[in-house]
Amino acid sequence: MEVLEILREASNRIYKNVKDLAGTNDAAGDFGVGAGGDISRNIDIVAEKTVLDYLKEINFECIVLGEECGRVELSKNPKGFVIMDAIDGSANAVRGVPFFCSSLAFATENKLSSITDGVITNLSNGEMYWASKNKGAFYNNKQIKVHKKDPIYKIVGINTSGSSIELMNKLHPIFENYNHTRHFGANALEMAMFARGLMDIFIDLRNKIRIQDIAAGYVIVKEAGGMLLDANLNPLDTDLSYETRVSFIAAANQEILDEIMSQINS
Ligand code: IPD
Ligand code: CA
Repeated sequence: MEVLEILREASNRIYKNVKDLAGTNDAAGDFGVGAGGDISRNIDIVAEKTVLDYLKEINFECIVLGEECGRVELSKNPKGFVIMDAIDGSANAVRGVPFFCSSLAFATENKLSSITDGVITNLSNGEMYWASKNKGAFYNNKQIKVHKKDPIYKIVGINTSGSSIELMNKLHPIFENYNHTRHFGANALEMAMFARGLMDIFIDLRNKIRIQDIAAGYVIVKEAGGMLLDANLNPLDTDLSYETRVSFIAAANQEILDEIMSQINS
């Protein structure tokens, strides 16, 4: 079975197991602080267990890097890493806000740039985004590309959750000069929507996002033709460690990147 098919099947199983749980009291159950540093909620645990059970069932030889469960070695001869954020947008999922997803990626080495496959599933409706290196990015079987044309409405995605006053001051000109800034609360799904052409740029300069939140988005954005850069505007790459935190900019083209960067106060 191809890696992509394994990730797709795992995502389908998550959807099946959590779709009726979101927004219920049962979703919120507190399991203490997970490997990624946030409280693990029951819905996170159910979703992670679904993936781990499936990977064990098919004897997939890998190391899982889960946001809650941490590093789980499923084989002594791993083919690579499954980078798992079984629920991205946990706060939305617990409250029942219909914007949360699963994000599963496969990497052959301990770095983002070795990711070969990624799948993001919108868990409020089962819609799936996926990509494999050099094979394009897809949304429900249709190939997707970032938005290259001049849009009718320019949509600027910015994650500002928990931003410092310094960062808000830096970003302030964007909020002043653009009427359509957006922040939905699940980074992976926002990267997928950007890849599909629904936003022109998506920025997260908080230096807070974990590898699990961006791994699948990394390959989907790149395969959809998007630029993916770090805060110094170099190609985004990093190791897969639990300590690593990232800032990034996903831009549809050089023009929108230059335009938005010129707005950011130094
Ligand atoms: C969170 C979401 C959110 C971002 C947070 C992440 P989680 O992921 O991606 O959009 O603002 O920084 O922690 O915790 O729900 O998997
Ligand atoms: Ca999560």
